[in-house]
Amino acid sequence: MTRPILFLLPSLSLFASSTSSAPLPTNTPNLAPRIPSHSPCDCYLVSGSDPGYFTNYKFWDFRNVSLPHSPGDKPNAQDPSNAWEAQTTLLSESTFKNEWHAQSWSRDTMDDSTVSMANSHRNAFFAPHPQIPDTTQLVLRTTQLSNYSSTAEIESLQANFYRCSLRVRMRLMSRDAVSGVPGNTKTDDINKVPKGACAGIFTYRSASCESDLEFLTSDPPNTIHYANQPDYDAVNSLFIPNASQVVTTLPSPWSSWVTHRMDWLANATVWYADNKRQASVTYGVPDRPSILALNLWSDGGSWTGDMAVNQSVYMGIEWIEVAYNTSTVDISPILTTRRRRHRPFKRENRNSEWERQIPGNQAVVGSCARPCYLDKMQHY
Ligand SMILES: *[C@@H]1O[C@H](CO)[C@@H](O)[C@H](O)[C@H]1NC(C)=O
Ligand SMILES: *[C@@H]1O[C@H](CO)[C@@H](O)[C@H](O)[C@H]1NC(C)=O
Ligand SMILES: *[C@@H]1O[C@H](CO)[C@@H](O)[C@H](O)[C@H]1NC(C)=O
Ligand SMILES: *[C@@H]1O[C@H](CO)[C@@H](O)[C@H](O)[C@H]1NC(C)=O
Ligand SMILES: *[C@@H]1O[C@H](CO)[C@@H](O)[C@H](O)[C@H]1NC(C)=O
Ligand SMILES: *[C@@H]1O[C@H](CO)[C@@H](O)[C@H](O)[C@H]1NC(C)=O
Repeated sequence: MTRPILFLLPSLSLFASSTSSAPLPTNTPNLAPRIPSHSPCDCYLVSGSDPGYFTNYKFWDFRNVSLPHSPGDKPNAQDPSNAWEAQTTLLSESTFKNEWHAQSWSRDTMDDSTVSMANSHRNAFFAPHPQIPDTTQLVLRTTQLSNYSSTAEIESLQANFYRCSLRVRMRLMSRDAVSGVPGNTKTDDINKVPKGACAGIFTYRSASCESDLEFLTSDPPNTIHYANQPDYDAVNSLFIPNASQVVTTLPSPWSSWVTHRMDWLANATVWYADNKRQASVTYGVPDRPSILALNLWSDGGSWTGDMAVNQSVYMGIEWIEVAYNTSTVDISPILTTRRRRHRPFKRENRNSEWERQIPGNQAVVGSCARPCYLDKMQHY
């Protein structure tokens, strides 16, 4: 057996410095590659007070997907707000389908959710980027129809993620913003995204093994919900203490491009927005191998609120990045169709929190000759 090589990494001030540097411009997506593909990386390190060390890495870039030409793409097209739809490609018809599966399960009304919802693979597609020419984005869509809500969920086929640092560059959009209607393309679209939808990014094994972040379009645009599930006790109608945090001071609204990051570590889940630490939860940290998933939905319940008939909300995603470990312990099939999220019947105000990043001292890394630092984008 080979003896693990131990490397004493330099002080973490390197990591902490990323928080004091100038914030990324919120409207201009960074098109630079993340980790250069030629970098030989034996392991991946992420910034933070309890820095994670991971052995695997994946990057899904949705910014350069070839789209069909739009036949109606003329200057005087009759309805420019519909022209963009001819220029889309379904996720389920792209090569990404080998790693991300667009869901089609549905859920009836229950408890206080007054509208049934049905996921459709047609609600996950590639479309032109709303701001950058010759660039694409992955779009999830939810639409309130007269008698049900058409929703979107994509799940990783890989189901053995066991702790990870997941990063998703995304924004929520109205129909005008996603379709690039002139005059709306450069704005953050604040207060134009229809209310009543919930967008989620999460790891999932079961209702009691999940870390997530959620945006409610009924909330003010700088509010985000972070949780280890379950964070709500439906029997006693109480939030479970310490399972979740609501942050009302996101540095940029969810209607602008932000890199959301969730670190699922051994003893805590820690969330960041554009490299600024937002929240940390040590209660209920997932302890079993999981999938990664993103969704956008509405069910007329008190969690999402009501969405008006014929309205749509869109979630644009430029890329998904994950540094991760795997485990095959207890890897029974994951039944997402049975997912049943307990949600409060009444929205409550909870304390918001802004945590400062606390630099750690030193990190010891075993068996890793060539670490790559995700948050410095450098190879050592
Ligand atoms: C990931 O796996 C490596 C190698 O087994 C281990 O040293 C490291 O602590 C793991 N990371 C986390 C966050 O559990
Ligand atoms: C985008 O993809 C095409 C092939 O599909 C490739 O020729 C081109 O170099 C890519 N552009 C960038 C910026 O990666
Ligand atoms: C919605 O209405 C249509 C047309 O009346 C019907 O075919 C469909 O089954 C209904 N869907 C649901 C979920 O009730
Ligand atoms: C919640 O956190 C507080 C402060 O850290 C602690 O005193 C309390 O015991 C925790 N409650 C639960 C249920 O873990
Ligand atoms: C996590 O907690 C366990 C037991 O509470 C402890 O043995 C372990 O050292 C902790 N891991 C880290 C990375 O802090
Ligand atoms: C929804 O759109 C359909 C088709 O465009 C239209 O017939 C219907 O009147 C609209 N309903 C509402 C409530 O706007």
